[in-house]
Amino acid sequence: MDKGQQTPNDAQQRILSGIQPSGKLHLGNYFGAIKQHIALQREAQCFYFIADYHALTTVRDPEALRQNVRDAALDYLALGLDPDQAIFFRQSDVPEVTELAWILATVTNMGLLERAVSYKEKLDKGIEASVGLFTYPILMAADILIYRSHLVPVGKDQVQHLEMTQDIAGRFNRAYGEIFPIPNYRLDKEAKVLGTDGQKMSKSYGNTIEIFAEGKALKKTVMGIVTDSKTVAEPKDPETCNVFALYSLFATEEEKAALAARYRAGGMGYAEAKGALLEKINAHFATARDRRKALASDPAYVDGVLQKGSQRARRYAEETMALVRAGVGLREQQPSANRR
Ligand code: TRP
Repeated sequence: MDKGQQTPNDAQQRILSGIQPSGKLHLGNYFGAIKQHIALQREAQCFYFIADYHALTTVRDPEALRQNVRDAALDYLALGLDPDQAIFFRQSDVPEVTELAWILATVTNMGLLERAVSYKEKLDKGIEASVGLFTYPILMAADILIYRSHLVPVGKDQVQHLEMTQDIAGRFNRAYGEIFPIPNYRLDKEAKVLGTDGQKMSKSYGNTIEIFAEGKALKKTVMGIVTDSKTVAEPKDPETCNVFALYSLFATEEEKAALAARYRAGGMGYAEAKGALLEKINAHFATARDRRKALASDPAYVDGVLQKGSQRARRYAEETMALVRAGVGLREQQPSANRR
């Protein structure tokens, strides 16, 4: 196969993930996804985008959407996303993805979408059954395939969407030739982050600890973590305590062992353990909080970052779309198409 001229897509592992612009981030988001995203940016060419087209399936307030997108950008940049390494952009700044979604829709079986669990779950939550919500997985497949991604780090709830993407890519390739690599996903098996009530931390349970909360509000949340009702004097079990579980996310092995010993010895109350947790949270996110405030006061910089990201992303998208348009017959076949 003629490899043709050097293209931006050559010879490089591409990792992609979409970020839902859905409001305040919490420790579950951080330890479950963001931390891995940021760690991966040095290992491959990462594409991270804010999924604003997808957000339209659930947000129908233009100002809220704008605000959520701004917040997502600030959060990721503040937490260490390096826009010179990762390609960081807004989904809708590369509108070619909607064109690809249309083309993919023509090879996507109705039955595949009808089996989507997340669609049914969203209907159960009272979200409107729009066509956009139904075809959400096709747009997600387009997100992944337009950058010809190899790997998508996801949470458990997105695995079915990734399987659908693999199915759609396979159907397209069988019909039109091997244009898309079949993307793999990586399930990040991070320790489950427990919320203030001891269940899994989740916005829908109202048990979150926000990354960018601080001062009194953060203290109130941490002091409100549910524990058993042992007195200060009584020995306590670190293994069953969610204050200890949260502390462990931030602490070194020695710090964990030291706190566990104090639990078992008795004489330490939960309020003191919560104080230790609060200190850890504050220390861990101090830099990110400062950076977020600085970034928030410089919207032009943040806009510039997203714009530059979309220009980089678009080069890949345009290259893929040239192959796709020619591949399906919308345009003439290119003699030296660089397929993979
Ligand atoms: N659906 C994803 C979520 O709810 C967000 C998303 C959109 C995404 N497009 C993507 C994730 C592409 C990975 C790849 O979190």
